[in-house]
Amino acid sequence: MPLTDIQRANQSYRLGTTITEHLLLCEDECPAASGQFTRLLSELIISAKLISREVNKAGLADILGMTGDVNVQGEKVVKLDEFANQALIYRMERSGLLCAMASEENADVIEVPENMPRGSYVLSFDPLDGSSNVDANASIGTIFSIHRKIEDAGCGILDNFLRYGYEQVAAGYFLYGSSTMLVYTAGKGVHGFTLDPSVGEFLLSHQNITMPERGRIYSVNEAYTDYWDERTRAVVNYFKSSKNERGKPYTARYIGALVADFHRNLLYGGIYMYPADSRDSHKPHGKLRLLCEAAPLAFIVEQAGGAASDGRQRILDIKATELHQRVPLFIGCKSDVEKAMAIMQGKV
Ligand code: AHG
Ligand code: MN
Ligand code: MN
Repeated sequence: MPLTDIQRANQSYRLGTTITEHLLLCEDECPAASGQFTRLLSELIISAKLISREVNKAGLADILGMTGDVNVQGEKVVKLDEFANQALIYRMERSGLLCAMASEENADVIEVPENMPRGSYVLSFDPLDGSSNVDANASIGTIFSIHRKIEDAGCGILDNFLRYGYEQVAAGYFLYGSSTMLVYTAGKGVHGFTLDPSVGEFLLSHQNITMPERGRIYSVNEAYTDYWDERTRAVVNYFKSSKNERGKPYTARYIGALVADFHRNLLYGGIYMYPADSRDSHKPHGKLRLLCEAAPLAFIVEQAGGAASDGRQRILDIKATELHQRVPLFIGCKSDVEKAMAIMQGKV
């Protein structure tokens, strides 16, 4: 009797398909999955294991709380933000696979030093997303986006990062939740791996994740209603007052960590919104960063059959003009995002 998808997933988890094996198996279909790319992902995985280790013992190791610094975005830096940022920079600049990096926590491009081997990829990352949740032991994550460096361009130049989202070679996130997971796409579907602490490896647990056409969850910080324009309020009111495809009301879920809210909606079906608002620090584009938050998650969501928009256009069609550019974000099930866009554009 043929196995169901769930039986196959359980089997591959028990018998253990690692990410390297998974990439090797799909190398023919997935040109991005070259040996170099596989090594790049392996290095990211080691960084994430180190971060996961620190996250897991955070309450014990004087690593909770603030460093006392404020980052380039004007936000308070928590100690784990700093650890995650240092772990990624330290490991990835020694990988020999990158030529430069951009972190949410660093004002400028981080060029791989000349005395270290350089590669042909550039990496953007949010070392710790949702870090205001750390002290409460809620889920947080690391988001990454990989581009090929521009041919014949110098390593440190900004243009390597000021790109369209659709040019990404791969994107993904590590989620430090009740278990640690890696979810990634290299342009051929979205795949999830769960860290098995007893084996020390990420094993395939969610093959080919797909989103339903319409979801059942809406996620937004409604405390900002007074700062939204009329159309944004109308979008949120739509999800509050409509029935989902099962004829039931949508349900509201908001963790306050984009990566965790996104992951839940990816698996259950839903829409996450962080619209533009009129607070000084967020004007005119909201809070979330294009390069290290919106674009990588947009690549993933599209590969899972969903959509991502800034309210006017597809996130992947936006060409970055600044390293720390912010964008409004509506991301999730396709028809929910299309509905939000139609309302934002005054079409309904
Ligand atoms: P970061 O921790 O990387 O600064 O990102 C925080 C972001 C995102 O994770 C989350 O969805 C959003 O901030 C929550 O913001 P509000 O508290 O304004 O809702
Ligand atoms: Mn973030
Ligand atoms: Mn962050």
